[in-house]
Amino acid sequence: MKESSKEVFVAPSLLSADFSKLNEEIREVEELGVKYLHFDVMDGHFVDNISFGIPVLKSISHTHHMINDVHLMISEPKKYVEDFIDAGADIVTFHYEACAKDEIEEIIDLIHSHGVKAGIAIKPKTDVSEIIPFLHDLDLLLVMSVEPGFGGQQFLPISLSKIKKLDEYRSENDLNYLIEVDGGINEVTAKECREAGVDILVAGNYIFKNNKKDAIRALKG
Ligand code: DX5
Ligand code: ZN
Repeated sequence: MKESSKEVFVAPSLLSADFSKLNEEIREVEELGVKYLHFDVMDGHFVDNISFGIPVLKSISHTHHMINDVHLMISEPKKYVEDFIDAGADIVTFHYEACAKDEIEEIIDLIHSHGVKAGIAIKPKTDVSEIIPFLHDLDLLLVMSVEPGFGGQQFLPISLSKIKKLDEYRSENDLNYLIEVDGGINEVTAKECREAGVDILVAGNYIFKNNKKDAIRALKG
């Protein structure tokens, strides 16, 4: 399948970085021209893992000029979105499955009220049709291509049809949300996602466990 000519961006996931030299890791990816820095926040409740939270974001969000792309894999996101915004989030993405359906618009409006971009993330089992009602209000839609909770998992091919559907819906309805994919992204799956219409590729292990320059170049195609 032919790739479009649009630029696809890479968002390194800090989850896989070496936390003993976090500043160095951030500087390295910034110097390689990366536009987004992806923060995988996990609470040990919505997902069976705990990563990092507000103090870590606060300490590093202003040490670079990349876009702080915060992915909240947490329960009760409404309770915390403003803390992450105060800590420096430029995009706050919360999980569709983590909140009551009747509070989703309220959370999006709350994020927007601070002049910050709002995203919704969907797990592999959540169909695109469930988030259609919110797409007109969203700045970003994150397709989880693995079950949220851990880096280094295998990419789930079901994600490609979701990306295609979101790309088609965006064109048919003249919307401009960004499509992001997260989980198991490497040079092979990145190409498939680019062909499906993705805008941002989140990658953790592939970037931080390899030569960063080669990895980022391979993901962009
Ligand atoms: C899952 C995490 C991972 C991480 C990327 O909850 O969100 O998807 O960002 O992990 P890799 O790129 O190592 O699969
Ligand atoms: Zn993520």
